[in-house]
Amino acid sequence: MSKDKIAHTMEYPPQTPQPNVYPLSWHRQTAKLEEIWDASLREAWDPKALPWDTFDVESYSWEEREAIAYWWTLLSVFDASAPPVFAEALIKTYEEHEEDPVRRCFFSVTRDEQNHEQMCGLAITRLLDHPDPLTYEPKTELGKQLHRNAAWLYYNGGRYWTGYKHAVPKYDLAVLFSSFLMGEIAAATIFHQMAAGCSEPLFKEAFRNIGRDEGRHMAICMAVMERDYPKMDTSNKAIITKQVRAGYLFLSAVLFEPPADFWDLPDNFIEVQRQAEAIAREAGFQIPEYEQKKENWKAAMLNLKGVLDKYDIPFPAIPEVGISGEEVTDIQMEDIIPVF
Ligand SMILES: [Fe+2]
Ligand SMILES: [Fe+2]
Repeated sequence: MSKDKIAHTMEYPPQTPQPNVYPLSWHRQTAKLEEIWDASLREAWDPKALPWDTFDVESYSWEEREAIAYWWTLLSVFDASAPPVFAEALIKTYEEHEEDPVRRCFFSVTRDEQNHEQMCGLAITRLLDHPDPLTYEPKTELGKQLHRNAAWLYYNGGRYWTGYKHAVPKYDLAVLFSSFLMGEIAAATIFHQMAAGCSEPLFKEAFRNIGRDEGRHMAICMAVMERDYPKMDTSNKAIITKQVRAGYLFLSAVLFEPPADFWDLPDNFIEVQRQAEAIAREAGFQIPEYEQKKENWKAAMLNLKGVLDKYDIPFPAIPEVGISGEEVTDIQMEDIIPVF
């Protein structure tokens, strides 16, 4: 018998050192989360099962196809990183022995985000007739410029993953939740707009589904915040304020326009992107106009501010959309807890 074996020496084994990744327990305290989990099953959808047969890609010009694919590519910079981001958070809920419905809700978010990523991939593949916007060979002059834009977006988005992996063990779930909530509010906002404005039935339905998913994600964050924030460690508040500012800078790239001092992009980036947006809009793919984006983003921020105010968490100044608050400077890509 190996000398490591102990079962013959005692009735019950010693305590398992914690944190042990698996909780052997299914406590259920937060009824709201149980409801959201049930809804996630009821509302499950399959990107492949959307009405793809109604989408006649040939009816669009190559410039239009490239412009619309560019928007999906921009979205992918956020949505394609969401599955691993939430998978990492899901593991944390197990390590921390979170109650059962919290674990399930995070599982559902991970799955949903995988769906959103699938949708981006299917749309891009159909529009470009190529499964990868980075190795795609552009067909038009605008397409060439957009290809370069996409490469720069990809480069920028690639800079935060290492930082995130360091942040997850370091921060309390409570801190992570404020960042998640911010992403979800942002996401829910944009998808509802896109669903309302897009003329192509396929995209309309996709956006409606994604928007509904994001609404659930938002509700999950709110429920956990309501549970935890009243007893939150005050040292976390300053971190949250900084994270909100960081989230603003990061998510502005898709919700508004990428702030130049934070995103590392070529000079004509915005000009090219605006050109593509105008062409996509003309083709019935209703990306909001600059002023509309600004208004929406501001409304989303004020929404988040309303939540954080309740818990006396100072809101950062966001002068870009006219919100005053605490000055937060010196934010690096490494500080980002990215979500969408
Ligand atoms: Fe998403
Ligand atoms: Fe989400």
